[in-house]
Amino acid sequence: MDITLKPYIDTTTTNLALHQKISQGIIDLITKGVLPRGQKLPSVNQMALDLGVHRLTVLRSLEELEAEGWIRKQEKRGAFVNEDLPVYRFKSPMAPLSGPLPEMDIPDLDIRPLKQDYSRLSFNDGYPDHRFMPHRELARAYSTVLREKTSKQLLLYYDLTGYAPLVNTLKEYLQNTRSINFEHRELLVTRGSTNGLYLAIKALLVPGNTVAMGEPGYHLMRETFLTCGMKVISLPVDEQGVVVDALEDRLKNQPIKMVYVTPHHHHPTAVSVPAERRLQLLALAEKYGFVILEDDYDFDFHYDRSPTLPIISLNPNAPVIYCGGFSKSLSPALRIGFLAAHPKVVDNACRWRKLIDRQGDTIQEAAFELMLKNGIVDKAIRKARRAYQLRRDHAYDLLNLKLPGLFEMKKPSGGLAFWAKVNPQVNYPELRKKALEKGLHLVAGDNYTLNRQAHTRLGFASMTEEETQEAVDILSDLIPV
Ligand SMILES: Cc1ncc(COP(=O)(O)O)c(C=O)c1O
Repeated sequence: MDITLKPYIDTTTTNLALHQKISQGIIDLITKGVLPRGQKLPSVNQMALDLGVHRLTVLRSLEELEAEGWIRKQEKRGAFVNEDLPVYRFKSPMAPLSGPLPEMDIPDLDIRPLKQDYSRLSFNDGYPDHRFMPHRELARAYSTVLREKTSKQLLLYYDLTGYAPLVNTLKEYLQNTRSINFEHRELLVTRGSTNGLYLAIKALLVPGNTVAMGEPGYHLMRETFLTCGMKVISLPVDEQGVVVDALEDRLKNQPIKMVYVTPHHHHPTAVSVPAERRLQLLALAEKYGFVILEDDYDFDFHYDRSPTLPIISLNPNAPVIYCGGFSKSLSPALRIGFLAAHPKVVDNACRWRKLIDRQGDTIQEAAFELMLKNGIVDKAIRKARRAYQLRRDHAYDLLNLKLPGLFEMKKPSGGLAFWAKVNPQVNYPELRKKALEKGLHLVAGDNYTLNRQAHTRLGFASMTEEETQEAVDILSDLIPV
């Protein structure tokens, strides 16, 4: 059979080199069966003529096809499609993936693009205002790092625990700001808190272990525990966070390996856990031998007094794994977080990390280290904190004044969002839809509790006072008085 390749091979599209385009085209014809096994290819001169390319280009393509095993050349006879190639042809596109994927223990999380969350006006889950992120200073820090610190270590693989100078500066920072003692602990720089929390679970627990957390509680953490094979016990939450007495009742009947808490501002209710409960929790950890996983995701934002020091700071020997990060303090785009724990836990976390991610972003860590050391991070946080406190007060007064009865809420002493009970007479999904049409995003209310109570979070930090005013005006127009 005399075959001309011209109609089949497109040498114009894609950025591949010309000889690669030809090889790719021939491979395509072979896998589709247009060129059967054993088929003789046209001569080099013929192909060059057909395709309008130099014969050296064809030769190069054939050499590569031969090296890869697609064709075989025979002395004085020419090139033939390799007869031994197995027949491989999927009739329907992506055949094994076109039906439903197998049942898996993977949570049905919302993975849609976040477009709506970034409406200019948004009462979100409690995002910071990205305008406080010192991005020029970050650019300068990157530039310094890439101009002056381009060591082998920085540009090749790095230690699993993170960029060493950042590990040290962060230890100092956490000691100074949160009184965390590193005598018996190690620090791992993580990609945000999420990464640290996940590694903490993998470092310490095995499938089938039982853990406890508040309900309502940080729902992604519940999903993480479940996906990792843990049994999750829900503890009640009141005005002081997780009810620790209820934990003791459960502990009397069954072993619990880990208790997850967000004591600074319980997520999602934003209440602070008082000293009495913190000590009670530590005492129970000692008595029953469980580990406390302390998630301090928004340490920097406490308004009415200084931030409460974390549970981990209360006893240098307490079995606490402490995770946090700079997502709320500066920007979630900076995937910089930390995990402080017993060295054995950090070692295990590193072993897991090596499998899934290997290491953090060393260049970003180096740039961030400069900003932390030079006080830029602290300055930006102080500025944001002052603004958020005013925004909290302003939004709270405005929502109560202009929308009486729509939300029932208390002013939180810290955090970036109100926890609000939505008036049950209001069709909240409908209100959200209409608000979005007018440019205001409201976070879905039914995500925060297992029984889908009509509560929601209203982030107050990311909008200026004028923007909050606009947002509230939109809602008042939509709510008949
Ligand atoms: C309670 C809680 N923990 C952890 C995280 C994760 O934050 P990061 O961006 O540091 O991964 C969040 C994010 O919203 C959170 O609300």
